[in-house]
Amino acid sequence: MHICVMGTGYVGLVSGACFAEFGMQVTCCDIIPEKIENLKEGILPIHEPGLQELVDKGLREGRLNFTTDQAKAIEQALTIFIAVGTPAGEDGATDMRYVDDVADTIGQYMHDYKVIATKSTVPVGTAKRIRARIEAVQPEPVEFSVVSNPEFLREGAAIEDFMRPNRVVIGGEDQHALAIMKELYSPLYLIETPFVITDTTTAEMIKYAANTFLAMKISFINEMANLCDVVDADVHDVARAIGLDQRIGRKFLHPGPGYGGSCFPKDVQSLAHFAQEAGVKLQLATAAHEVNQQQRGRMVEKITAMLDGNVAGKTIGVLGLSFKPNTDDIREAPALDIIAELQQQGAHIKAYDPVAIPAAQQVLRDVEYCKDSYSTCSGSDALVLATEWNQFRALDLKRVQALLNQPVMIDLRNVYEPETMKRLGFRYTAVGRRSRQRDSAN
Ligand code: UDX
Repeated sequence: MHICVMGTGYVGLVSGACFAEFGMQVTCCDIIPEKIENLKEGILPIHEPGLQELVDKGLREGRLNFTTDQAKAIEQALTIFIAVGTPAGEDGATDMRYVDDVADTIGQYMHDYKVIATKSTVPVGTAKRIRARIEAVQPEPVEFSVVSNPEFLREGAAIEDFMRPNRVVIGGEDQHALAIMKELYSPLYLIETPFVITDTTTAEMIKYAANTFLAMKISFINEMANLCDVVDADVHDVARAIGLDQRIGRKFLHPGPGYGGSCFPKDVQSLAHFAQEAGVKLQLATAAHEVNQQQRGRMVEKITAMLDGNVAGKTIGVLGLSFKPNTDDIREAPALDIIAELQQQGAHIKAYDPVAIPAAQQVLRDVEYCKDSYSTCSGSDALVLATEWNQFRALDLKRVQALLNQPVMIDLRNVYEPETMKRLGFRYTAVGRRSRQRDSAN
């Protein structure tokens, strides 16, 4: 079965490589020639565990191809996946430019029946929009189906999420297209993956509902952590105990500086935005977003409080810049906002991240980038742990203490135990972990 994937970004590349691994014949298309030339050589534009091996294998075995020739790729394929970017536009609306362009291209070059599937997260109603655009540009009327097949891929675990998903969601208008889509995922029947088969609009809704619910869970536990800080309770015990209730579940209850990345911030706002346009006020989505924004400011307050209420002229070492570990992705990373605000207040910033420094250099000015954790500590008045990379979990704390001007650590990811840190002689604070009393006691 021939598949064409339009867009070789994160979603397109992972999906294309995984479908090739499923045994399909896949052509990935992009309009950027340089990107395609690199991909043909097996040079990837992103860092994702396991992807290199899959791309190399697909290329070697001839099931994965890369091209800028959209006309040919469309012609050959029975199923075309739209996996182009859907960036945030004005006021939380989604910028549909790239989806529209791809729909127009497909319409122009389509000469026989095609299944057109959206994989990018697209606003509710996009399937209908794509149908209308294709019909408007088709040189002659050709039958086609539009389906919605949202991805639920976590960066850093995308291959695993594709190969062993919790569920596959397929929304379509006709049985023929649904049968073709199910066929593409047939290897997943062997591992008894649940399939949710529904209409396109519902499938589009599912993606937003899932991401907004997860974002809400994070904002909820962050609010609880903020309250724990004030009443001197431990949010980890709260999270564990409530999470043991199977109706709640333990995952996504880890407090911190708030969610970042390319999905949650954008999707939550986008859902709230198009709901409002549809005349429905989504109060929980809006609140999840507001709490998330405020959380960054709270983290700055925490840092400032540990430096006697004033960071001006002080040097602050920051460990971790990406929005989460195991990625160089800094989109909407809390560390960036926190650093910018500390700089605004007159702090000098030293920073280290295992892979995200080149990306951070593009957006953060006047930061002294360091070669490792310890050189970040050296001469700093406080150490901020902003992303929980594994290597930051195993720091030589004695060495950290010796290198810092004073033993102050603000652990925004709750990596360390407050009791241990106190015993080691640190002035330490975390998020909702009964460390506040000790801050003021010290
Ligand atoms: C997410 C969804 O998980 C995925 O299903 C969707 O398709 C795309 O968006 P991703 O953005 O890669 O994936 O990251 P994820 O691992 O879900 O983390 C998102 C953010 O939430 C990170 O900034 C992370 O630090 C934060 N987070 C996550 C918390 O602060 N607490 C938690 O308990 C979990």
